[in-house]
Amino acid sequence: MVLDSTSSMIQPDYDRKAELIAFDETKTGVKGLVDAGITEVPRIFLIPASNENIKSSDPPLLLPRPTLPTIDLNGINEDPIRRKEVIEKVKDALESWGFFQIVNHGIPDSMLEDVKKGVIGFHEQDSEVKKEWYIRDLLSQKRKVVYNSNFDLYAAPVTSWRDTCECMMAPNPPQPEELPLPCREIWPEYSSCVLKLGGCLLELISEALGLHPTHLLEMGCAEGLLVLGHYYPSCPQPELVIGSPNHTDNSFITVLLQDHVGGLQVFYQNQWTDVPHIPGALVVNAGDLLQLITNDKFVSSQHRVLANKMAPRVSVASFFSTNMIPTSKVFEPIKELLSKENPAKYRGTTVNEYVAHYAKKGLDGTSALLHFKI
Ligand code: OGA
Ligand code: NI
Repeated sequence: MVLDSTSSMIQPDYDRKAELIAFDETKTGVKGLVDAGITEVPRIFLIPASNENIKSSDPPLLLPRPTLPTIDLNGINEDPIRRKEVIEKVKDALESWGFFQIVNHGIPDSMLEDVKKGVIGFHEQDSEVKKEWYIRDLLSQKRKVVYNSNFDLYAAPVTSWRDTCECMMAPNPPQPEELPLPCREIWPEYSSCVLKLGGCLLELISEALGLHPTHLLEMGCAEGLLVLGHYYPSCPQPELVIGSPNHTDNSFITVLLQDHVGGLQVFYQNQWTDVPHIPGALVVNAGDLLQLITNDKFVSSQHRVLANKMAPRVSVASFFSTNMIPTSKVFEPIKELLSKENPAKYRGTTVNEYVAHYAKKGLDGTSALLHFKI
């Protein structure tokens, strides 16, 4: 590594850009490297020793280790006392962790299995067929489905050991033939269940803020849904790379389905804590846009995914956000939550302005929210 005196950025002493382009041009992502039988990871993936932000060694552990709350949604629509208890738990979790898991959420196990199978089916299909879906220039937007490796390939300081296939599933869902075959049936089915669940979660979150149950829905927090099917190939040298660097999500909320392999961690009380796999559970987290409209009451926490040697890992992340769809609706801290003592901390922004800033910056370990601070 050498220090570039003009930008004071650490620049690698190899032509990183050329190697990123060569990787991009394979159109087969990280999975393509593993299929080719590499035993050492290419240097674009190596975490620079200088980049403490990406994979800092853990500070001493707090004992007992904190455990991420799991909230049982059973009975919330029938029993007002249960509902109140759950709202209290949601409030506590979003104020501290920014994350929680849910069980009895109403999406059957068989559907969770099928959507994971669809993502595996996409990433493990014949690479010549898969290549046809590879696209980098998102602004051309000719296609609803985007498959590539590292959405921020040219902006991020470190390349993630991860490939992704994603599609906006709301407000304008794709026609079935626009979806890759392995996901064609299940993605629309799963998305409609996640939209319904998200509506229910946003009601609980509104109530946890002391607002009318439909407040966040009426603001438009459930208008868009971006579904991402991530694939983290098994890695010959997992300790040298990162599956996903620490980041926060640019959504209102994210509903995440992870498999049994593990590796997801959330930064809580100054240490990385595992998000354990609970069969049938879903992980819910607040994104930056929820932190912005709640004026920091609910936190969009840093999280990351470690790479591993044992097995490929899949996850399905459902982002409640209209993402890059141009809209004129401005989101700003909710008036009812503000007071003289608690003035607005952020300026208003549109979702697409926020997401564009987030993408341009790339996952560099800093929060995109800072740019919108008053
Ligand atoms: C994300 C994310 C975690 C995972 O998509 O933003 O954090 O487990 N995914 O894949
Ligand atoms: Ni995330």
